[in-house]
Amino acid sequence: MTDASTAVATAHPNIALVKYWGKQDEELVLPLADSLSMTLDVFPTTTCVTRCPGAPADTVTMDGRPASQEAARRVVRFLDLVRQRSACDDRASVATRNTVPVGAGLASSASGFAALALAAAAAYGLGLDPAGLSRLARRGSGSAARSVFGGFALWHAPGPHAPDPDAACYAEPLAGVRVDAALVVVLLDTGPKSVSSREAMRRTVATSPLFPAWLAATRLDLRHMRAALEAGDLATAGEIAEHNALGMHATLESADPPVRYLTEQSHRVLEQVRALRTAGAGCWATMDAGPNVKVLCPGDQATRIAERLTTATGFPAVVARPGPAAALHPGAEAAR
Ligand code: DP6
Repeated sequence: MTDASTAVATAHPNIALVKYWGKQDEELVLPLADSLSMTLDVFPTTTCVTRCPGAPADTVTMDGRPASQEAARRVVRFLDLVRQRSACDDRASVATRNTVPVGAGLASSASGFAALALAAAAAYGLGLDPAGLSRLARRGSGSAARSVFGGFALWHAPGPHAPDPDAACYAEPLAGVRVDAALVVVLLDTGPKSVSSREAMRRTVATSPLFPAWLAATRLDLRHMRAALEAGDLATAGEIAEHNALGMHATLESADPPVRYLTEQSHRVLEQVRALRTAGAGCWATMDAGPNVKVLCPGDQATRIAERLTTATGFPAVVARPGPAAALHPGAEAAR
């Protein structure tokens, strides 16, 4: 236990090029398959955690307003986990600022829980190494395990015979990536999503007849994606990423009842990505639990591709490049 009662951390969202979709354990947030992502340099989340000795309850604000009941419940559950591991039972005040549109499939829960994990671990003196931090962030939201790291990250799923599945389940930076990649984020809809990714994931695993095929395909995609990134072959990586995302959305649509995150607008952007490709541009689409389309492309062509997509579709686009790891703000411990 340190004396610092306040800690502030910033983390960035990540976009999976090979998706995490399906858990083997809901409580521990253990995925069924490995996933691979790029952390972005845009839309950071900054979170301040202050221990409040003697306070009767945790307080949670988001962007200056009290958090929704559901969001506050998730944060309190997460803090309970941190308290369990520390020698301190203090309640805390948590203040979060998001610059990513919340709930629109841009993984605000990834940056959110990575920042919360880092700030809470510091405020409660947990002294975790990066893998330990990734394991902790995972308990808030699976994809947050990857936002602990900058650049490209690989999140390991525990194998069926892992003696300690929790210990085996963390992300780490992917070494040996030789591509210069950017993701153009086309912003279609910044409203909250109709079905949470947690519920949609549960429903897909339980009811989609395509789920077993998805699982086999995504494991193969992961192997090929790693090889393509290590070989500096962005075209192959892009094809795999687009195919992987479309496969995930197909399993969603085949769930009962179906989950549909992609809208007519998403399909319009997808058409334009294909048109640009036919015209010779290197660009490939990926979509998460929301309508926004993210377009993987060579770093030196990202600005031009963003302009062309905006001209063709009328939607704003933001160029994101590989971003930094989650980080504590130095000196913030004293800034109560
Ligand atoms: C489509 O990490 O939000 O973005 O673990 O239930 O909180 P929970 O799910 P979450 O799911 C992200 C799913 C995805 C794909 C990905 O990021 O790999």
